[in-house]
Amino acid sequence: MTAVTFRRMRFDVDSDVPFQWNPANPGSGLMANMISFIAVGFERYLVLAVKDALRTMTDEDLRAEAEVFLAQESQHSAAHRRHVNGLIAQYPGLGPVLDRVVSGYEELFAAQPLKFHLAYIASLEATFPPLFTFMIENRDRLYNGDTRVASLFLWHYVEEIEHRSSAQIVFDGVVASRWYQMRMLPRSMSHILAVSRELADGFREAVPEEDMGVDPRVATGEIWRTETLTRLPVVNRFFTAPYRTTFEGIPSRQLLRLVAGLVRSQSPTHHPGDVVAPDWFHTWMDSYAAGEDMAHFYGVGSAPAARG
Ligand SMILES: [Fe+2]
Ligand SMILES: [Fe+2]
Repeated sequence: MTAVTFRRMRFDVDSDVPFQWNPANPGSGLMANMISFIAVGFERYLVLAVKDALRTMTDEDLRAEAEVFLAQESQHSAAHRRHVNGLIAQYPGLGPVLDRVVSGYEELFAAQPLKFHLAYIASLEATFPPLFTFMIENRDRLYNGDTRVASLFLWHYVEEIEHRSSAQIVFDGVVASRWYQMRMLPRSMSHILAVSRELADGFREAVPEEDMGVDPRVATGEIWRTETLTRLPVVNRFFTAPYRTTFEGIPSRQLLRLVAGLVRSQSPTHHPGDVVAPDWFHTWMDSYAAGEDMAHFYGVGSAPAARG
């Protein structure tokens, strides 16, 4: 099995945490809130599927990989659930939004076989090393908000990078068909997109725009059009973004590297374990090992050494 460790963590994200916890980059604050809602539904789905898969596994090494993966994901889901519960306490209209995310995953779980679930999970988890490396490397622009929320997300991203091989190992150990995984990709991605769209609509209905702190279009696919138009040479001379974009200030080459990493992550010959962890991953791990307060490790209000 790969080197993955379960750490017991607790984050004080409750109803004291404002919806817009990241005024320095409200688009990123909104995106993180959406990730919290998806994480509750997706990681619950993942736990159900991997528990089912464990019933068929006899190889001890494979079982150990699946079990530590499951333990980390269960804890991620619980931490995001706490964050989401705090938001629902402030905006009760978000309760049905969470219900729809969860039921979307429950329906998928009921409608498809185990091999589909493991393919969906492996494909989505493969996007996390490039995506969360990007988030970590640009944390000063994306996560410089309330330390309670910023620290929760950065912990989650670090552990996603740590267990980056697990979902693929489980899929390969149980289903062993990269061809099947490739064929299921459009169905998996369209499910994720549908969940995200529904979530964006639900947020716009449940949270007043002034509390959201950002143009609600940021929570839709419109953001990608705006982000692209502001960066295209020549075109950007004639285009003024109607709102501040989430990735403003991040060099285009980093966004291109992210897109390339996401495309590569879905190749049938790709192994997520080959992706090199960013330096800050090791900073986080070393600080955890040194006994630092990881629940307030980054962002506004964190300990003064504020982790560069
Ligand atoms: Fe996770
Ligand atoms: Fe994961």
